[in-house]
Amino acid sequence: MILATAKSGGDAVAEGLEVGANDYLAKPFEIRELKARVSAQLRTRRLERRLSERESRLAAIGQMTSAIVHDLKNPLSSIIGFAELTRQDVLIGKGSEMVTQDLEPVISEANRLSHMIAEVLDFARGSSSDLNLMPTELSVYLETVCLPMKQKLAAMGIELILRNESGVDPLVNIDNDRMLRVIENLVRNAQEAIWTGGQDTRDKHIWITTRCDASSVYMRIADDGPGISPELIPTIFDAFASGKKRSGTGLGLATVRNLVIAHGGEITVEAKGAEGGAAFVLKLPRTTNAQQ
Ligand SMILES: Nc1ncnc2c1ncn2[C@@H]1O[C@H](COP(=O)(O)OP(=O)(O)OP(=O)(O)O)[C@@H](O)[C@H]1O
Ligand SMILES: [Mg+2]
Repeated sequence: MILATAKSGGDAVAEGLEVGANDYLAKPFEIRELKARVSAQLRTRRLERRLSERESRLAAIGQMTSAIVHDLKNPLSSIIGFAELTRQDVLIGKGSEMVTQDLEPVISEANRLSHMIAEVLDFARGSSSDLNLMPTELSVYLETVCLPMKQKLAAMGIELILRNESGVDPLVNIDNDRMLRVIENLVRNAQEAIWTGGQDTRDKHIWITTRCDASSVYMRIADDGPGISPELIPTIFDAFASGKKRSGTGLGLATVRNLVIAHGGEITVEAKGAEGGAAFVLKLPRTTNAQQ
């Protein structure tokens, strides 16, 4: 609130500021000065908001550091255990098939560790910082970044299906690397929910469906897994909200939401979508050629 006062003297100004004004202008004033004061106030608000976001992020990290360290210890002890086993295999001359088999958990647990560390770093760094936004053709982008995911999922019996329902390839202003983190997190969550370790032989799917209207682009990431329990839904995007998974940091969806908001978008969740399992819908502003 900026107080415009015709009263002169320090008392009137002090009174105005005490009852809640953020700044004051003595009448008559120049419109230019008013504009400058309004933008100075907006600048201060933005800085305050960033500071308080940062403070709550740091507080959340502080609270959960011991839990995270605890979670990091599990994959680390598996890595050490299986690496020792592999050394024994080599020493006693076991065949390469056996050695490879015992190395498998070393690789997958190391990947798990690396994912968890990336998650904590992403969250700690904050998502709005330094976005490198580029006008990007969404379908082309998705085809490219999803190819390695498709291959990895196929090996687990999960089909990753890309569908474009709008018939055009809309442009979005995205930071290609950070949007990849968003997609990877959502696809990984879907895979973790669907995949039960190979016993389940039914067909398993993850769909990424895009569509657009004049102003927005929608990206729906859905699966045919078990869906999300309704009690988890209200807090699912909060930091450290996690189901009963054995390994997660619970930072994945908090980071996803921060990144989507930083792109000027929104994200919503369906506990049980039409595809059978959970569904997440991202809405991003559509860019036109003119804005490039
Ligand atoms: N597609 C999904 N199907 C079922 N449950 C899901 C799905 N996506 C998320 N969830 C639930 O939401 C929880 C929070 O997900 P989030 O990505 O924030 O953390 P996490 O996956 O537990 O940890 P991390 O991402 O660090 O591995 C998950 O633990 C899981 O219970
Ligand atoms: Mg996750």
